[in-house]
Amino acid sequence: MASIEMRNIVKQYGDGFPAVNDVSLDIADGEFMILVGPSGCGKSTLLRMIVGLEDITSGDMIIGGKRVNDLAPRDRNLSMVFQNYALYPHMTVYENIAFPLRLAKMPDDEVRRRVTEASDVLELKDHLERKPANLSGGQRQRVAMGRAIVRQAEAFLFDEPLSNLDAKLRGQMRTEISRLQRRLGITTVYVTHDQTEAMTLGDRVCVLRKGKIQQVASPRELYEQPVNLFVAGFIGSPPMNFLPAHVEGGRLQTPFGSITLDERRAAAIQGRDLLLVGIRPEYFEDASLVDEAKRPLGSLFRARVDVTEWLGDSQYAYIPYEAPEAIRNQLRDLSRELDAEELRTQAIVSIDATSRIREGREAEFWLDARKVHVFDPQTGENLTRDAEAGARLTQMATEDRVEQVHEAQAQGTTVGGGGASRAGAA
Ligand SMILES: Nc1ncnc2c1ncn2[C@@H]1O[C@H](COP(=O)(O)OP(=O)(O)OP(=O)(O)O)[C@@H](O)[C@H]1O
Ligand SMILES: [Mg+2]
Repeated sequence: MASIEMRNIVKQYGDGFPAVNDVSLDIADGEFMILVGPSGCGKSTLLRMIVGLEDITSGDMIIGGKRVNDLAPRDRNLSMVFQNYALYPHMTVYENIAFPLRLAKMPDDEVRRRVTEASDVLELKDHLERKPANLSGGQRQRVAMGRAIVRQAEAFLFDEPLSNLDAKLRGQMRTEISRLQRRLGITTVYVTHDQTEAMTLGDRVCVLRKGKIQQVASPRELYEQPVNLFVAGFIGSPPMNFLPAHVEGGRLQTPFGSITLDERRAAAIQGRDLLLVGIRPEYFEDASLVDEAKRPLGSLFRARVDVTEWLGDSQYAYIPYEAPEAIRNQLRDLSRELDAEELRTQAIVSIDATSRIREGREAEFWLDARKVHVFDPQTGENLTRDAEAGARLTQMATEDRVEQVHEAQAQGTTVGGGGASRAGAA
């Protein structure tokens, strides 16, 4: 196991285009790091530079304290699982898992020991004699992971390993990968553009845009304290609503009425004029369901509801609003970049399932003024981000994870029953 440090990593392909542009990132020993971002933002390129499948144009790649820029992939001892994991169709599950060990000319009894351990962990031991064609998608995926595990590598690198699976299986595999990583405590870098994977799997998430890091933080910090419009729009589903707003007498005037901000937020936007307010769907509520004590903490407004969607445990209401053309254009660009649905100047509001709000009628809503974010429409910067509170969230998440890993290891659930077999990696 090893830490991975990247110092000012740049990758320019033949045409001079910087696919990765000055990335510096520290991944701790045993940490689970997610790389996420829209298509083409450089995730795979970065991963391939860690493994050594792609030359590094400039910067330093340091693994386990050693600069590896000039080391061949096989000398880095990392395990990579690709989106299209290639299993050998003519080999049994056993031989597929054993493959890297055979290449390394490992003695038979050691191969047997390791394949048995890995297949126990992955619950494949009843299928070892089958061929890949006779396995389900999830089982095949586990074989590919087994092959990564037996190598007892310094780190696991995953490039969208679940994107070929259907939604249900993806959910199962997600849980399995998470459990496995915790059990093994192996440093893991995981590329995805799936929201849920990004938010549930990692200790920390690194959001990339056009080859540059936007924010590295715990899922919770990303969600609650995004640094800019891009991160705010990328993380969360349904996405954050962005409304035009201007400042008037210390209050924010929005299409949904005026919002009074607390002192800290009010100070952050002082002297500004046109702004964008970010409000997550769940910051809204049907006003008739908000109790008296809570009402003064937010703003009330009336609006006509276009469409409602009842989900059982909650419901969404769509509320159209007006926005100046400049803002509309900007939001359109953003949603295009985020591969989001066509921009609609309507807010998505998540309200209690018991609400009697009706389509086509006007209703009164409440919105939690304590939670709104305010962005600079030009730079996209989140002016109201509380960096300190954010750092605390990430710190807490990291401590939690370390504790879980220690617990799992104390229970002797690591492959080989302890750290010793991993330390003896070939
Ligand atoms: N071999 C190559 N030659 C030239 N340009 C490349 C090459 N490989 C990737 N690129 C470009 O580098 C950028 C980053 O590509 P990369 O594959 O790292 O993106 P990604 O974030 O993994 O995207 P996706 O989510 O679609 O897999 C893209 O603009 C891509 O077109
Ligand atoms: Mg990719």
